[in-house]
Amino acid sequence: MTFVIRRLRADEPALYRDIRLEALRLHPDAFGASFEDEAARPLAFFEQRLTGNVIFGGFRDQELLGTAGFMPETGAKRAHKAHFWGMYVRAAARGTGLARQLVEAVLDHAKDRAELVQLSVVSGNVPARRLYASLGFEPYGIEERSLKVAGRYLDEVHMVRRLV
Ligand SMILES: CC(C)(COP(=O)(O)OP(=O)(O)OC[C@H]1O[C@@H](n2cnc3c(N)ncnc32)[C@H](O)[C@@H]1OP(=O)(O)O)[C@@H](O)C(=O)NCCC(=O)NCCS
Repeated sequence: MTFVIRRLRADEPALYRDIRLEALRLHPDAFGASFEDEAARPLAFFEQRLTGNVIFGGFRDQELLGTAGFMPETGAKRAHKAHFWGMYVRAAARGTGLARQLVEAVLDHAKDRAELVQLSVVSGNVPARRLYASLGFEPYGIEERSLKVAGRYLDEVHMVRRLV
């Protein structure tokens, strides 16, 4: 299966909102953000996301099937760091290598802009943890009870991929 990987543009907020809300609705345990919070946001919120971050989309036949985001830190003491976030592949496209291509697109974008990329993943999310480990992310800490979802606590593993 071949995909086109490209940055989502600021004039595509509805496209982005649609896949982002699907991700949060179907996988409440996988993301720090909640469906209820983001579903209540206006379209301008998603437009701002697309300008304040670099969000890559994976397309097949014009259909957006997955996303991954890059957010650089700011300030003299933190600008060497960036965050990887918002990893999602729609169920119909899983197991095709799309997630791997999206992470690689973010890392390629990051290599001239940051010295390291950090991410957080819920400890029980084995597919995502394997994906990140296979692309060179290493765990550097575990945050117990990092998220509370419907009364249940979830631990998060913090991972880093060094670029230099
Ligand atoms: C995690 C997710 C992005 C993987 O997407 P995907 O397109 O199926 O992944 P890929 O086909 O690119 O697979 C890449 C690697 O991920 C890992 N992986 C993917 N699915 C897996 C599974 N079901 N079990 C174990 N490892 C898995 C493997 O290491 C795989 O490499 P391999 O095929 O060489 O073994 C997808 O399952 C998803 O969107 N899940 C819901 C949201 C989520 O958990 N996001 C991550 C938040 S941190």
